[in-house]
Amino acid sequence: MAKHIEFEPSRTLTEFRLLPGCTTEATTLTHVNLQTRLVRLARGDGWMGIKIPLVAAAMQSVSGARMGLEMARLGGLAFIFASQPIERQVEMVRRIKNYKAGFVTPETVPADMPISELAELTRRRGFATFPVLDASGVFVGLITRNDYDANRHGHLPVRDRMIARPALAVGGVSQDLREANAVLMDSHQTVLPIVDAQDAVRYLVFRKDITDHLDNPLQLVDGRKRLMAAAAVNTHDYVDRVSALVEAGVDVIAVDSSHGHSVFQERTLHWIRTHHPDLPVIGGNVITGSGFDFLVEAGACGVKVGMGGGSICITQEQKGTGRGLATAIMKVAEARDAHAERTGNYIPIIADGGIVHAKDIVVALALGTDVVMMGRYFARMDESPTEKVTINNRVMKPYWGEGAQRAREWKAVRYHQAVFAEGVEGFVEYAGKLRDNLDDTLAKIRASMSTCGVATIEELHSGAELELVSALSIREGQVHDIHLPGPEALYGSTKWGD
Ligand code: IMP
Repeated sequence: MAKHIEFEPSRTLTEFRLLPGCTTEATTLTHVNLQTRLVRLARGDGWMGIKIPLVAAAMQSVSGARMGLEMARLGGLAFIFASQPIERQVEMVRRIKNYKAGFVTPETVPADMPISELAELTRRRGFATFPVLDASGVFVGLITRNDYDANRHGHLPVRDRMIARPALAVGGVSQDLREANAVLMDSHQTVLPIVDAQDAVRYLVFRKDITDHLDNPLQLVDGRKRLMAAAAVNTHDYVDRVSALVEAGVDVIAVDSSHGHSVFQERTLHWIRTHHPDLPVIGGNVITGSGFDFLVEAGACGVKVGMGGGSICITQEQKGTGRGLATAIMKVAEARDAHAERTGNYIPIIADGGIVHAKDIVVALALGTDVVMMGRYFARMDESPTEKVTINNRVMKPYWGEGAQRAREWKAVRYHQAVFAEGVEGFVEYAGKLRDNLDDTLAKIRASMSTCGVATIEELHSGAELELVSALSIREGQVHDIHLPGPEALYGSTKWGD
């Protein structure tokens, strides 16, 4: 006989609806604040927060440097995947930490390069502005697409058409973007070279990019104004990997495992807390209260929750282990609250796997999670590391699980671990820019919280009222009993005012 058999079925997020509360002036859309706690600080009191309650999953097809950069600029984080050599992962974290918003590291051209060659280089690179260096590497001018006509000037050297250094306004490396912008606005240039004390060009600042870069009010930065970076590690090579990531400036680490309630994870957490006492570390994944207590006891500053619910996940089918995410969140949040009550230490939790819609994000938050991690949602964006493909006239991006054969090959070589697959490989519909998708998702989350009469995630935790819904009422909540013509027919027949 089993030790325990639970007859109450575990629940998924889609089975719950939020009941409205009283919306006041203080809880209108513009007053809803989505900042939340990601991890308890490793030392001292307090939490490391993020400005939106979303993070991107540590997966090869989701979180590379580009996703990490854009997420930090928009107020969340992407956990750079661990299923790659240490040096490559460290390089991705470095790219995020060294990023200077709006400051582009330029490619230079020699002053004697023929314009015909420059035109070809421009075509290949997809950009058209190059600082020009003389034979001894001295910065002598700047050339852009506006300075030549490839047919008329093709035979001339770049030096004959460039704007020479004495005629150029330049900025200095110690300037921030606002200061560089002021110099740029006073000049007649569309681009500002940023030079160091030796007059070597280090960056270019483009007029067209400025508003985009100054317009990130939620940007997450560390004490030195560098973008924040997050990364995943495994329970095998953590000694070398964590140390290298810390050296690169990583701000928070997650131990990446589908089953976190293990002595291997306990050892990893213990080692990290002992050797890097300032580094906040997230443990996981667990789906029980005892799993939460175990990880916190081992030193976790945050805990990831979920097993078997990911869109690419076949863990439940393969191993028969797992739990509906709503139940997993409730059980772990209960243990988290009891732990906070007992010790005064609130350890944030992160719900992970199977979430993609704003409505499910809000339900997960209302049930008690502090943050939501998603893979599929982010895999669809421009910023994920994969290339677009067209299948049956639909633009798609590849998406595969870390336990799918493709990702496991790397693990197999390294850890001889790939016994059977726990994930699949497929495609997701391409969705465009992360920024646009996040705007839409966050607007829906804010609207939902406003309807519930709450202005913060903490208020949602304590004030939300939810109800389990029947399959019939879910159906009633969808579009029903109406014929939906295609958009052409709809707009073609709509003649207002006739
Ligand atoms: P999604 O947001 O539904 O796509 O789920 C993403 C989550 O699935 C990740 O954050 C992981 O926790 C989990 N995951 C990633 N790869 C695999 C896999 O191969 N098998 C099972 N779960 C996976």
